[in-house]
Amino acid sequence: MAINLGKMNAYPFQISSMAEYNEAYQKAKENPEAFWADVAAHFQWIKPWESVVESDFASARFAWFNGGQLNITINALDRHAHTKPDALALVWEANDPKEASRRFNYAELLQHVERTAGMLRRLGVKKGDTVGIYLPMVPELVFSVLACARIGAIHSVVFGGFSAQALADRLNDASCKLVVTADEAFRGSKTIPLKDIVDQALLLCPSVERVLVFPRTGAEVPMAKGRDLNWVEAWSNKGNETLGYPETMEAEDPLFSLYTSGSTGKPKGVVHTTAGYMVWTTYTFVNAFQYQPGDVYFCTADIGWITGHSYIVYGPLLAGATTLMFEGLPNWPDSNRWWELIEKHGVNIFYTAPTALRSLMAENKQGPEAFALNSLKTLGSVGEPINSEAWHWFKDAVGKGRCALTDTWWQTETGGIMIAALAGISPEFPTYAGLPMPGIVPVLMDSEGNLLAAAEAEGNLCLEKPWPGMLRTVFGDHERLRQTYFSAYPGYYFTGDGCLRSKEGMHRITGRVDDVLNVSGHRLGTAELENALNFHPSVSESAVVGFPHPIKGQGICAYVVADLAGQTRFETKRELLDLVSKIIGPIARPDLLVFVPGLPKTRSGKIMRRILRKIAEEQSEALGDVSTLLDPEVVKAIQKAFVQAKEDR
Ligand code: WT7
Repeated sequence: MAINLGKMNAYPFQISSMAEYNEAYQKAKENPEAFWADVAAHFQWIKPWESVVESDFASARFAWFNGGQLNITINALDRHAHTKPDALALVWEANDPKEASRRFNYAELLQHVERTAGMLRRLGVKKGDTVGIYLPMVPELVFSVLACARIGAIHSVVFGGFSAQALADRLNDASCKLVVTADEAFRGSKTIPLKDIVDQALLLCPSVERVLVFPRTGAEVPMAKGRDLNWVEAWSNKGNETLGYPETMEAEDPLFSLYTSGSTGKPKGVVHTTAGYMVWTTYTFVNAFQYQPGDVYFCTADIGWITGHSYIVYGPLLAGATTLMFEGLPNWPDSNRWWELIEKHGVNIFYTAPTALRSLMAENKQGPEAFALNSLKTLGSVGEPINSEAWHWFKDAVGKGRCALTDTWWQTETGGIMIAALAGISPEFPTYAGLPMPGIVPVLMDSEGNLLAAAEAEGNLCLEKPWPGMLRTVFGDHERLRQTYFSAYPGYYFTGDGCLRSKEGMHRITGRVDDVLNVSGHRLGTAELENALNFHPSVSESAVVGFPHPIKGQGICAYVVADLAGQTRFETKRELLDLVSKIIGPIARPDLLVFVPGLPKTRSGKIMRRILRKIAEEQSEALGDVSTLLDPEVVKAIQKAFVQAKEDR
């Protein structure tokens, strides 16, 4: 196969002034075909596309660059390895500051991905197979993700903080054939027994045939004969080298599936496809962060979440950037770790989450004062609304008042950044994500489905047009995609977020309007949490709501109707917290557990969550009308139990 490895022009689609933004925005809105064809022309195609975009909101079918053929790794690796082999692609920093960094230039990264791809092929992984990846933040995670993309296998990365049960659910849903994991993960001063968790999960996963185990900590772990293989041994096989060639992929072939929580119980496998995702992550990376060739870019997310997929791996590498990947925690060995990393590697663009900023502020507000952080020029925030205090601290203490700050709103489903200031170009307002990216047409709706036409408005955020990076389906359940995102407001994509629009057209995301919580930037469905609690034999019913939390953004408050059966409240509480950790993971442990005699229900049996939310928010005076409840008296008992639960802590 002949691949033309031409040079990617220095981002002709990069916007560099407000006038250019306005022009791009208008063109993308009025003539998306021409606009996106221009952008897509700067990538390497094996065969050009036939149509730019096909969309049908009613059936929730969308296609971008249909008829085109490509391999995303040719664009992320081969192209740069050809034109600038010595440029740094990936820099890795270990959990322990005493452990040496690892660095890979584009030629080396390509070679490592080729060998990994060859290893997977040799182990029988084929185009269209799904591969589960449950690894710590080590370079082998990047190799594995890109190796899957190279051979056309669909990667399904599972965040290392999920439990065996949650891992099993995800591996089963995607029918993964092979799992890549490690013996253990380092996490600050602790280790997490990843292989042990995989072993437990695999008791429930008949589809998994092979397990590759990367030795990260060197712990002795049991290896199942015929199933488990040591990564180092398998990787060093000479046969891998010749098997690392890129598969020819259709534009709409699935690239990966990534699970995320919704308002119903079961997490959804959000599926992104090849060409549109490639175009969208590159376009948004280059524009939102105003990346310039040579910049060192550091995103603190975990590759187990979409931020890591789009803005540690794909976006930066597609743009030919240097991406810094960090295995550890912001506050270990102490809370200056990130500032040290920024200085050590000369980071220019730093992308992180409000929850981390708030916890660093709480631990050591003066921390950044001791660091000049001269290299920084752009700061980015993602994952949840950024409160004013965190915004100003980020801008002033970290950015020393001289960096652009972009607050980027997007979702697992959107593939990439949707509403954000283009760093240093479009206006910045604390707590506002700002203006939409070209191609994105946000609208606000009231709950009856009326479009809010006034410039200044608050409502449910919907999107009017398809965009290249949008999710294409829910793994194995297309109807669920249609139901979840395209049925509430026919003809629109419904985000699940509330939004305030200023008269200047700036957008401020106010948080989820559905039963989804955002806890320390982690998305959790209340139904998922309730299902876990209801597994306990003494629990007959439960209801979970969020409440404002100074560090986590939202805390989890669980109301539980339980028959303590001779146990103390404390014993049952401990069991329930452990149960949630076991079924979902430690990230889902409720902050408050309230034992209540009953839940506030209407005569038709619907739980009035509004009341539970108000109590959890400690705004009992604002409960509103409770007269439609079957038993209005239960409210007082819940309020009393809430006070008790706070005292118990
Ligand atoms: C939800 C999506 C985007 C990658 C990380 C989270 C919230 C995300 C912002 C922001 C206010 C934000 C929304 C969204 N969210 N970014 N800049 N300002 N809220 O991805 O896990 O799919 O969660 O996170 O509520 O719907 P996710």
